[in-house]
Amino acid sequence: MLAFGGGVIGDLTGFIASTLYRGISYVQIPTTLLAQVDSSIGGKVGIDLKEGKNLIGSFYDPKFVLIDPSLLKTLSKREYANGLAEMIKAGLIGDKKLYTYLLEHETVTEVEIAEAIQVKRNVVLLDPYDKKERMYLNFGHTFGHAIEKKHKYETYLHGEAISYGMLIALQIGIQLGETKEELYQEVLNLLLKRGLVKEPLLKKDDYQAEIIHDKKNLADGLHFILVTKPGDVKIVKLKELDML
Ligand SMILES: NC(=O)c1ccc[n+]([C@@H]2O[C@H](COP(=O)([O-])OP(=O)(O)OC[C@H]3O[C@@H](n4cnc5c(N)ncnc54)[C@H](O)[C@@H]3O)[C@@H](O)[C@H]2O)c1
Repeated sequence: MLAFGGGVIGDLTGFIASTLYRGISYVQIPTTLLAQVDSSIGGKVGIDLKEGKNLIGSFYDPKFVLIDPSLLKTLSKREYANGLAEMIKAGLIGDKKLYTYLLEHETVTEVEIAEAIQVKRNVVLLDPYDKKERMYLNFGHTFGHAIEKKHKYETYLHGEAISYGMLIALQIGIQLGETKEELYQEVLNLLLKRGLVKEPLLKKDDYQAEIIHDKKNLADGLHFILVTKPGDVKIVKLKELDML
C-alpha cells in the first residue's frame, strides 16, 4: 500500500496495512509538514473511534518513508505552522541548534526536517514501545490533548493545542524550579509570531479536569515532561493533582 497524504492518510493506510492479511508492506510519502516530521516516523499507526482518538492501532513500520519538501508548497500557512509546532517541540526536547534556527526562520528546508526526524528517531530507537524515553515526545501533549479533546477536535489543530500545552508545561517547570522564566518568554514570543497561539492564552485550570478524568493518568502518578533548557528534558511523576 502507498500512503500519499497527510497524517490521517498515513495512519489509516498504516493501520490497514498492519491488519490486512495479517500484515502487508506499505510505504509512506507524507505531504504535510506535520506528517513529514512526526506522524510518518516511529511506526505508530491507528484510527480514531467516536469514544476517543487513536483507540485502535498498532506499531507497524513502513518499508520506507519518502520525504519531498517541495510537496509542502501548496500547504496553507496554518497547516505549515501546525508542522512547525512539532519541530519547535523537537528542538526543545532534543536539538538546541534546530530550536535556535526556528527562532529566526519561518520556513524550513530538508536540513531542518531531517534534524527534527532525527530527534524523534533517537528516542524511538531507544524505546520503540513507549515505556520511557519515547515519552519525551509528549512534551506539551498532556495539556495539548486535553485542549483538543475539550474543544472536540474542532477549534485547534494539533500543533496549536500542543503549543498552548508547551507553554503550560514550561510554566509548570518554572513552578518546580526546573525551567527559567526567560525560556518561557522566548517560546511564547516564537509561538505568537508563528500564529500558533493567541493572547489571551488558554488557561491551565480550564483543562485540568480533562487530565484528572483520564483514569490512566491517576493510577500510578502522571508522567509529565519538562524542558529544563533547549535540548534538555526531564520526566517528573506528579502524584499530587495540585502539583499541576
Ligand atoms: N502516528 C503518529 O505517530 C502520529 C503523530 C502525530 C499525528 N498523527 C496523526 O496525524 C494526523 C494529523 O496529520 P496532518 O496534520 O498531516 O493532518 P491531515 O492529514 O488531516 O492533513 C491536513 C490537511 O492538509 C491537506 N493536505 C495534505 N497534504 C497537502 C499538501 N501537500 N498541500 C495542500 N494540502 C495538503 C489535507 O487534505 C488536510 O486537509 C492526526 O490524525 C494525528 O492523530 C499521528
